Amino acid sequence: MKAIILSGGKGTRLRPLTYTGAKQLVPVANKPILWYGIEAIVATGITDIGIIISPETGEEVKAKTGDGDRFGARITYILQEQPAGLAHAVKIARPFLGDTPFVMYLGDNLIQNELGEFLNHFKEQQMDSLILLRPVANPSAFGVAQIDEQGRVVHLVEKPKVPPSNLALVGIYFFANTIHAAIDRIQPSARGELEITDAIQDLIDHKQHVEARQIEGWWLDTGKKDDLLEANQIILDTCLKSDLCGELDAQSQVFGRVQIGTGSKLINCSVRGPVTIGKDCHLENCFIGPYSSIADQVTLIDVDLEHSVILRGAKVIGIHQRIVDSVIGQRAHLKTAPQRPKALRFMIGDDCQIELA
Ligand code: TTP
Repeated sequence: MKAIILSGGKGTRLRPLTYTGAKQLVPVANKPILWYGIEAIVATGITDIGIIISPETGEEVKAKTGDGDRFGARITYILQEQPAGLAHAVKIARPFLGDTPFVMYLGDNLIQNELGEFLNHFKEQQMDSLILLRPVANPSAFGVAQIDEQGRVVHLVEKPKVPPSNLALVGIYFFANTIHAAIDRIQPSARGELEITDAIQDLIDHKQHVEARQIEGWWLDTGKKDDLLEANQIILDTCLKSDLCGELDAQSQVFGRVQIGTGSKLINCSVRGPVTIGKDCHLENCFIGPYSSIADQVTLIDVDLEHSVILRGAKVIGIHQRIVDSVIGQRAHLKTAPQRPKALRFMIGDDCQIELA
């Protein structure tokens, strides 16, 4: 059994972060989203993993993730010249996959459930495909499945205007080699992509064995800001362990589960976990509230912050209102004058969202 993880794509919904970096490398609790997927796959015993990359962000993904040694896996990078769809990614991975069955994992997805149970079910039943479903409030934004009384998949449709159910396809799929012939039979959709939902529908139409399982635990698709913040909250809530490696002065206090990396200094700060602070950060006169992740080399002075993600090298100085529900990109600078500012001066990149609430 092999696995492919899709880490190409355009990432339009996470702009401006994705103008300069891969969406799958955006950190959740200070670890790239992509790495959670790699770890979940390795936990099932699959160690031969192909990662689909794009020409724009592929080198960054490779440099950061490496050859798989750190995960106990062997990673092969597969270049997809154009983001021509999820089924197209499978098509170009064919030489890597050969005729083995495989797991396909979307590199910006996270689920609570372990994959082993689904994988065993897929293998025991010798299915052509096993898909995972979860009820959602806004099915029109997803691939949606229609299920009959026996729980069999009758129909799949990508981002329907009138959804046939509230069951969205989770971005983790199990396939036998029969999927390749199905992909060869389908045509690009109206949005110009080779859709994996169409390929699975083709399997169903050819009376092949396709089953669906509903997942109970959380599922996060981190392709948008609020989803990213939610993922950060859930991972900090469930996985964070206290570990204070940085330096705290006598005026600083830490409550609850807090991680502080080596080389970081906190001066007159109060940190209320769960919070993770990376390496070589400088924090002075700050309150850092729950569900905040601060990456390496961040400077925060006179800042009150909670439920936010601050990326590497950002500097935030003298913002006297509380910063909440925010994502601040790599090397971004944000500061105000010590007295009440008389004017606001901005240099804001394309597609940024600023809300003075
Ligand atoms: P999506 O989030 O559906 O697509 P996207 O990354 O282009 O994002 P947006 O809609 O915001 O523009 O893709 C799901 C995952 O699959 C994501 O990790 C990117 C990856 N992907 C590929 O690797 N190749 C592709 O052709 C496509 C469409 C996506």
